[in-house]
Amino acid sequence: VVVAVIMVGGPTKGTRFRPLSLNTPKPLFPLAGQPMVNHPISACKRIPNLAQIYLIGFYEEREFALFVSSISNELRVPVRYLKEDKPHGSAGGLYNFRDQIMEESPSHIFLLNCDVCCSFPLADLLEAHMSYRGMGTILVIKVSPESANQFGELVADPVTNELLHYTEKPETFVSDRINCGVYIFTPDIFTAIQGVSSQRKDRATLRRVSSFEALQPANRSLPSDFVRLDQDILSPLAGKKQFYVYETTDYWEQIKTPGMSLKCSGLYLAQFRRTSPDLLASGDGTKNAAISGNVYIHPSAKVHPTAKIGPNASISANARIGAGVRLVNCIILDDVEVKENAVVIHAIVGWKSSIGRWSRVQASGDHNTKLGVTILGESVTVEDEVVVINSIVLPNKTMNVSVQEEIIL
Ligand code: GDD
Repeated sequence: VVVAVIMVGGPTKGTRFRPLSLNTPKPLFPLAGQPMVNHPISACKRIPNLAQIYLIGFYEEREFALFVSSISNELRVPVRYLKEDKPHGSAGGLYNFRDQIMEESPSHIFLLNCDVCCSFPLADLLEAHMSYRGMGTILVIKVSPESANQFGELVADPVTNELLHYTEKPETFVSDRINCGVYIFTPDIFTAIQGVSSQRKDRATLRRVSSFEALQPANRSLPSDFVRLDQDILSPLAGKKQFYVYETTDYWEQIKTPGMSLKCSGLYLAQFRRTSPDLLASGDGTKNAAISGNVYIHPSAKVHPTAKIGPNASISANARIGAGVRLVNCIILDDVEVKENAVVIHAIVGWKSSIGRWSRVQASGDHNTKLGVTILGESVTVEDEVVVINSIVLPNKTMNVSVQEEIIL
């Protein structure tokens, strides 16, 4: 059998995701109408012989309890949340729960970052891994040389696909092939992590009895149970015939900011169009709103037949969309009201917010700049005829004058 582990992080991570992470753990923020972590979970569900999915993080148990039980029922795959008492790093977190993960005696363990958006070609990754016969195989993708330094850059042998060199977010350019944060390992990975951890312990002992610390200040602050998969495992083991790469040519993005979540919501809607079009809104029937492109509308949302929605719009539970409203490239969260003739373009509208008549909430739509997508936090009120452009508004604010390029605290 195989098992899958999804790293969900915790509340100290994801600060770039504010103000949306003030209300909901980032892994549960909806993309294309489903919690972010649903997308990798659904991909795992398609792996043959999958026994169990573990979510590892340091969010409070209760924040995931409801989600985990409902998704387990829905997909009929057991999903368990394993809570770390503190962050142990991506490899340390895995190692911490080795006994639970090995309960089913899996031959292979998939490891997925929860904050990446891709097609998760897990069956292809497994097949490639079986042919290489290493300890692990990394999903990689080619990106533009200018953007590569935000990720782990790597070099692989073009013939054997062996990982030859790995550096995490290097300052000078190494390679345009990057680590997608999706892996498959044999259980030997636990021995490798254990190795790093005991090396750290030995060094700590050495430091106590000598002045070794002065020579290695970089190692000082890392406790022995904090192990990063990238810097501490992949870098030192590159070129030792342990790790291999599998390159995808499909879509891939990292979801660190609200702006990127909007882009990724659109990518998942486009995937639904190919794999499960029944999840998307269709514009046929006279009592329905005009739908263009890929749109998700929760069954409990009320959309006026004269509204025009899409492309790339997701409307969550109990939202009310008034007459003559125009929604383009946006995420409308639960219990939002958008009143008559308002326009929302390139924006995320937070839970319980209200957009007044003839108002405009919009942005340039550049996902890579901080104010390229307008974000309204929870319970924001935009009064009638007010225009909010390229701005971020924190929860509970009332906007009674128009703003542009502002962060409203
Ligand atoms: N449970 C747990 N505990 N999860 C963690 C911890 C931890 O201590 N630290 C990080 N994570 C989770 C994050 O929530 C995220 O899903 C994943 O592990 C990786 O986070 P980081 O270690 O902060 O790395 P990153 O996202 O900046 O970069 C990594 O992913 C990129 C792909 O998205 C690196 O592996 C890069 O090389 C890679 O390109």
